[in-house]
Amino acid sequence: MQRIAVIAGDGIGTEVTAQALRALDTVRDRFDLDLEVEELDYGAERYLRDGTTLPKGEIERFRNDFAAIYLGALGDPRVPDMQHGREILLALRFELDLYINFRPVKCLADQFCPLKAKTHDAIDFKVFRENTEGIYVGVGGNFKKGTADEIAINEDINTRKGVERIIRAAFAYAQKNNLGRVTMSDKSNAMRYAHDLWQRVFKEVAQDYPTIEANHFYVDALAMALLRSPEQFEVIVTNNLFGDIVTDLAAELQGGMGMAASANINPDGLCLFEPVHGSAPDIAGMDKANPLAAILTMGMLLEHLEHREASRAIENAVMQTLHAGHLSEDLGGHTGTSQMGDAIVERLSA
Ligand SMILES: NC(=O)c1ccc[n+]([C@@H]2O[C@H](COP(=O)([O-])OP(=O)(O)OC[C@H]3O[C@@H](n4cnc5c(N)ncnc54)[C@H](O)[C@@H]3O)[C@@H](O)[C@H]2O)c1
Repeated sequence: MQRIAVIAGDGIGTEVTAQALRALDTVRDRFDLDLEVEELDYGAERYLRDGTTLPKGEIERFRNDFAAIYLGALGDPRVPDMQHGREILLALRFELDLYINFRPVKCLADQFCPLKAKTHDAIDFKVFRENTEGIYVGVGGNFKKGTADEIAINEDINTRKGVERIIRAAFAYAQKNNLGRVTMSDKSNAMRYAHDLWQRVFKEVAQDYPTIEANHFYVDALAMALLRSPEQFEVIVTNNLFGDIVTDLAAELQGGMGMAASANINPDGLCLFEPVHGSAPDIAGMDKANPLAAILTMGMLLEHLEHREASRAIENAVMQTLHAGHLSEDLGGHTGTSQMGDAIVERLSA
């Protein structure tokens, strides 16, 4: 028996997770999978009610009792500083040491491809974003804050261990999946110390994978190349900040936030799966959210738990649903969240 902890979260997180769980139920029955779901109410509602973010000992329980975690989205206008979201997400990311933010970027239909003269098959690559270091670690401070002489500093933390493990993960993935090229992106021409480390480690690790081409783009050149010739990319590995930006650009290449799935991985531990988008308060409760990112994310979770047939069935059902013209508003159609879910379940049950 494999147990999955599900935190639907806030806003559209609850709406899209409901559809992802319907897809999971359907493949569980169809493929006779021994899976059990525990739904947890962590999120803004619970936080506002009793101050709970993640109870003490919960991460240990996750580690001991669960095979994977699924998260919808966190963020609520009633908690403007996102205290609950930060505590939940950061606790999971750092305590489980989820150092790989893995983002598949695949455009499933020509009509979602925003690039002139490109078809959907030009966009099919994976991004490995470093998820625990870089400039987002919150090391820094202010001096003379609020005065005309203010100084504000954020330190960019790059450790040998952190850089090496994400680069190794990218190469290992390429090798396992018979991909021929890993691209590392940095700004070593301007960020001489930190990104010189990325350069040296990339070259060293590449030597262990002689059959895989190791190439390099400065991140500004990568942004251009992703628009001009995305077909050249197979696996991209980069730091936390650049990965954040590049993957949002990449999400647009696949049809927007409603289509972008992700996994937060520690290859030796418990992993967390979540659609890339947030809780979208602007459309929450309106049955307008596109649930496909959430459903594709569930497919990734199943793949991770080695239920490959079920995972493939989900991806196929998403393709068939799109080709049958069921499109949510963000994709240019009028199909509601639950109707999109109906269309997926119908195809998964067929
Ligand atoms: N991992 C997470 O839980 C996560 C990630 C990003 C943002 N957030 C939080 O979510 C809240 C809203 O943030 P935001 O507005 O910057 O980002 P967002 O991703 O929630 O929304 C950005 C835009 O994309 C649209 N959108 C997003 N997902 C969609 C979907 N599935 N279908 C259709 N349209 C969709 C929204 O309507 C909005 O216009 C904030 O509180 C933020 O902190 C959480």
